[in-house]
Amino acid sequence: TQRAMATLPRVYVSRKVPPQGLDILRKSGQVQIELWDSDDPVPRQELLKKVKGCDGLLCVLTEKIDAELLDAAGPNLKVVSTMSVGFDHLSLDELKKREIRVGYTPEVLTDAVAELTVALLLATSRRLIEATHEAKTGGWGTWRTLWLCGYELANSTVGIFGLGRIGVAIAERLKPFKVKKFIYTDVAPRPELAEAIQAEFVSMDELARQSDFLAVCCALTPTTQGICNKNLFAKMKNTSIFINTSRGGVVNQEDLYAALSSGQIAGAGLDVTTPEPLPTNHPLFTLKNCVILPHIASASYTTRNAMSALAANNLLAGLRGDPMPKELQL
Ligand code: DGY
Repeated sequence: TQRAMATLPRVYVSRKVPPQGLDILRKSGQVQIELWDSDDPVPRQELLKKVKGCDGLLCVLTEKIDAELLDAAGPNLKVVSTMSVGFDHLSLDELKKREIRVGYTPEVLTDAVAELTVALLLATSRRLIEATHEAKTGGWGTWRTLWLCGYELANSTVGIFGLGRIGVAIAERLKPFKVKKFIYTDVAPRPELAEAIQAEFVSMDELARQSDFLAVCCALTPTTQGICNKNLFAKMKNTSIFINTSRGGVVNQEDLYAALSSGQIAGAGLDVTTPEPLPTNHPLFTLKNCVILPHIASASYTTRNAMSALAANNLLAGLRGDPMPKELQL
């Protein structure tokens, strides 16, 4: 068996991923695993060293999979499987050039992300974090008529920037709050998705102008990098709430800070920032109308385990030369 072991494909797992995924890899008998057995990211130098000669790599979103890393891995590398739906940390051109197949984890996290987005939206619009702080620190003097007032979803227009599975799932959850109208923008209309939530396709300008709540649900690409900037915020109503659970890179944070501190928009809820973690002395943390979460949208036990299982199954299928359960088309 020692001999058999030595011929099995070698995979590097760059993080102690949730147990379901590790079990699938271990029980497969299909691979030799080397694991970065930690909750924290593997240092870059260590990663560069460890991927050398590997057939497969299972990574998370903190690892940059670029030309340097792929060169360090060398020609054996056939499959990269990321435990994430986002793939902005992967250099797709470089992977394609080397004919490396890529697995990712769409769908399994849609419910968890949509749920958290609704929670963040309500926490921001109804000022929950400010309110608990006031209650705890003596700011709760008496019942006051306009104290800690916010904005309600009933009769509102909700705008979705980038309509995909997650945007639809958010809208489905918001609908029972009596939202009046859903609108969205994207590179092109997406009638099949929009139909389920009766969302109207509008221009980016209209989205900014009409939305009482604007939720960003797009992928980070060169096109969407920094697209939420002062031009967008300037067109929004000063009663509007901006929510981002996609990637920090879609937002120009200086412009967002200016829009929030000047009252150009009413509030922002962010689950993602640039960089991550956002330094604790960052100006956005000084604003009462900005709720910042540490990238937890998919963080339920069920979902993180499902993500790790899917990432493991993608990796194994890719190494066998089979279709992956969820393969990214390069
Ligand atoms: C992803 O999957 O891309 C999220 O950002 C983490 O779940």
